[in-house]
Amino acid sequence: MPSLSPAPFVGAAGRFAPTALYDPVMALTMREGAWRSKLVAQVAEDAPEHVVEIGCGTGSVTRRLVAAVPDARVTASDIDPDILSRAARKSADLDIEWLLAPATGLPIADDTADAVVCSLVLHHLDPEPKAAALAEARRVLKPGGRLHVADWGMPRDPVEGLAFTGLRLLDGWGRTRQHATGALPALLRGAGFDGVVTHHRFRTAWGALELLSAEAPQ
Ligand SMILES: C[S@@+](CC[C@H](N)C(=O)[O-])C[C@H]1O[C@@H](n2cnc3c(N)ncnc32)[C@H](O)[C@@H]1O
Repeated sequence: MPSLSPAPFVGAAGRFAPTALYDPVMALTMREGAWRSKLVAQVAEDAPEHVVEIGCGTGSVTRRLVAAVPDARVTASDIDPDILSRAARKSADLDIEWLLAPATGLPIADDTADAVVCSLVLHHLDPEPKAAALAEARRVLKPGGRLHVADWGMPRDPVEGLAFTGLRLLDGWGRTRQHATGALPALLRGAGFDGVVTHHRFRTAWGALELLSAEAPQ
């Protein structure tokens, strides 16, 4: 694994908190069992042979992917070398290919993945790299392959709005604006994906988490 990280980024726990807090805070505040299992079930529906995860963090989705699609090749990438090492240690018992790479520049050939998974990553990116990351997901997907996204949706009431304000302060106002306005489905369509579907919506301590899928054009 190369030791240099290619560009600045917002770490898993946001701009101010250490990465070591990420897993415990997620476990306490995010109803992880509920939505992570729905996300991997979405992926498993297509019985993919090669799954690429972008911004895998500590590998909480990655582990579940291996369990849900045991015959698939799973490639998990992140821009942060520290968190990638944590993920590899946490899942040392599993056959996962770890890749140090930005979401905007995956060292993966065109049209080779059956599924791309992007969980809680897009809201860490400013609008331009967010669009570039979606274009990159589309590039590596085979025609008809599906992108699966878990990320923040528009708050629907003042409680969700207040919760999401806390998250926006941690991760950055500009990076989260398109999520606050409910623009995620339009962003997926703008990146050239077809069949954009919002499958689930979960209220959490940080706002409303949505699970979407979108298909790379045939
Ligand atoms: C909130 S964490 C989500 C981690 C994991 N996917 C999950 O569901 O728990 C966001 C992750 O995105 C990664 N990240 C941030 N900017 C990135 C970029 N430009 N390219 C790839 N990964 C990035 C961070 O290092 C972090 O691991």
